[in-house]
Amino acid sequence: MKIAVVAGATRGIGAALVEQLARLWGDGGMVYLTARREADGAAQVARLAGQGVRVGWLPFDLADPASARHLAATLRGRHGGVDVAVLNGAFVPGNPPSDAAEAAQMIATNNHGTLRFLEAFGPLLRDHGRLVVVASGFGVLANLPPQLRARFDTRLNGPAAIDAAMDGYVAALAAGTAVAEGWPDWANIPSKVGQVAVTRAYARRHGTDRGVLINAACPGLTATDATRHLMDTVFKGREAQTPEQAARDLVWLCTLPPGMAQPHGELVRHRAVLPFGD
Ligand SMILES: NC(=O)c1ccc[n+]([C@@H]2O[C@H](COP(=O)([O-])OP(=O)(O)OC[C@H]3O[C@@H](n4cnc5c(N)ncnc54)[C@H](OP(=O)(O)O)[C@@H]3O)[C@@H](O)[C@H]2O)c1
Repeated sequence: MKIAVVAGATRGIGAALVEQLARLWGDGGMVYLTARREADGAAQVARLAGQGVRVGWLPFDLADPASARHLAATLRGRHGGVDVAVLNGAFVPGNPPSDAAEAAQMIATNNHGTLRFLEAFGPLLRDHGRLVVVASGFGVLANLPPQLRARFDTRLNGPAAIDAAMDGYVAALAAGTAVAEGWPDWANIPSKVGQVAVTRAYARRHGTDRGVLINAACPGLTATDATRHLMDTVFKGREAQTPEQAARDLVWLCTLPPGMAQPHGELVRHRAVLPFGD
């Protein structure tokens, strides 16, 4: 039986992805969503059961340093491995500019959490497994000034160095030197660049042996709780798709058939590679 886990899937794109994947696999698979709160996990399971769709739920908090390891251990114990692992949940930033406290929370959760997720789930992937980190199209090197790009160049840096570069950004904010160093004033930009870079660097080192594919994804602008407060500012004048529309391309990415060597270590948006720029 195929096994999938979508981490952070109580609503929005993650909830739509769980539903579509579970419908696609039917009795041939088991899809787990994760939630931070038991009530939210149980509510999603009950909502889908009411539509004849069977899913499970497990606890997971991206901000908790032990959570990815525990989630992976639970799935290893139950199933031995997973075919699909998606990191979807994320700390959602407010409007720019970000203050130092918000940036520190975002980096601690989304960036350090992404590396923990990769390290927990990379080894758990079965043959032809697919791992997807839902990031953003903001996460390309062109969104950083030239003097900062080398820190995220995945030809030069491994996952740990990229993770350390994120700590450098937080330290610069705390020291009041972030603007002088050229960091963008919205934490979402460096955070997404770092998230894509660490996924790309991890994928490079992991390799595609056993047919495994590891990628970051941009879902495209989507109307969810995460973007509502940004539609009159950052995304003013732009059209947002529905979570169901966004999930279709993510289902495609995390169910790429066996025998493909690409995409791997890429940022993928609407089924096409968005060049990272290193
Ligand atoms: N919407 C867009 O246009 C857009 C564009 C680019 C990228 N993305 C990315 O797409 C992903 C999904 O976003 P969305 O728009 O669907 O957002 P959303 O509707 O706000 O949903 C966010 C999800 O993340 C979970 N989450 C938040 N903090 C978490 C944590 N510490 N640990 C585990 N899960 C956590 C939430 O769970 P709770 O219910 O527990 O809070 C919720 O299930 C995010 O990674 C986001 O950055 C979205």
